[in-house]
Amino acid sequence: MTIESPSSSWRDYELIDFGNSEKLERFGGYVVIRPEIRAKKERTLPEEEWLKCACAKFVPGSGLAKAGKEDSGSWGMLRKMDDDWTVSYPKVGFDLLLKLTAFKHIGVFPEQAPNWDFIYSNVKEIAASFPEGDPPRVLNLFAYTGAASLAARRAGADVIHLDSVRQVVTWARNNMESSGLDNIRWVIEDALVFVKREARRGNSYQGIILDPPAYGYGPDGQRWKLDDSISEMLLNVASILAPERSFMVLNLYSNGYSPAMAETLVQEAFGGKFHSLECGELILKDSFGKVLPMSVFARLKR
Ligand SMILES: C[S@@+](CC[C@H](N)C(=O)[O-])C[C@H]1O[C@@H](n2cnc3c(N)ncnc32)[C@H](O)[C@@H]1O
Repeated sequence: MTIESPSSSWRDYELIDFGNSEKLERFGGYVVIRPEIRAKKERTLPEEEWLKCACAKFVPGSGLAKAGKEDSGSWGMLRKMDDDWTVSYPKVGFDLLLKLTAFKHIGVFPEQAPNWDFIYSNVKEIAASFPEGDPPRVLNLFAYTGAASLAARRAGADVIHLDSVRQVVTWARNNMESSGLDNIRWVIEDALVFVKREARRGNSYQGIILDPPAYGYGPDGQRWKLDDSISEMLLNVASILAPERSFMVLNLYSNGYSPAMAETLVQEAFGGKFHSLECGELILKDSFGKVLPMSVFARLKR
């Protein structure tokens, strides 16, 4: 099993400390405190140190948040900060606009950086074997603010970015523009509906990226439930992934999926029709060397 974390040379992100179900992170010039269910250990630094360096702290708000079912709440401001700001990911070459939202998220999942690197290098490699003017096609599902879409586009792919929420698609478009990129195709649709239609139409992609949540909704109220739908989703993904010179990246961050479970799901859906399958964990390391496991990935190549 592979364990990967963002490179320590990424200057715009740092997990300073974590523990007692919270993490203390620096994104560019600002430090924030956010709830983190996986942060079971004791903190290394005392509370005063956390409050001394943080600009804002997210406080879970609603009854649902307290029950651990929802991430909504509000930010308590500890010192002055801009409403939005930018972090850069120079290794691939894109910028992400960040802002404090009502859902503890701020526009980036930093543990995903090794997946961005994988996407960038694989698109580059595939593009090099494609004729000029006919770039590889990449589909990013559950794509949020688009870091993976930007990595694929930067490497030269024709990218479809799909999410069910209009506001995050607008956010992703702003990220594309501030990164000096263009021509990503934006789709606001239910991911499973889209993939099934592509399968019926016989369309195919050289790269498919999916980072499905535990629960979600399509724009017309279609319910997404990871445990119920992931196998059907992967079967359809397998049928629209090009039979050669192609890759898939699956990320699972909820419901306690292990790398072995991710491997089984992918094996079942693809029935051995691939060259390689690598499964592992994405972790964050804090400035004291403590390890925080964040998600599980499966990367397949055909
Ligand atoms: C955790 S985010 C993915 C993070 C993203 N891959 C990244 O690293 O930036 C999950 C996304 O899935 C979207 N979503 C939820 N249900 C969906 C559905 N049925 N169809 C399409 N997108 C959906 C949400 O709007 C959210 O942006």
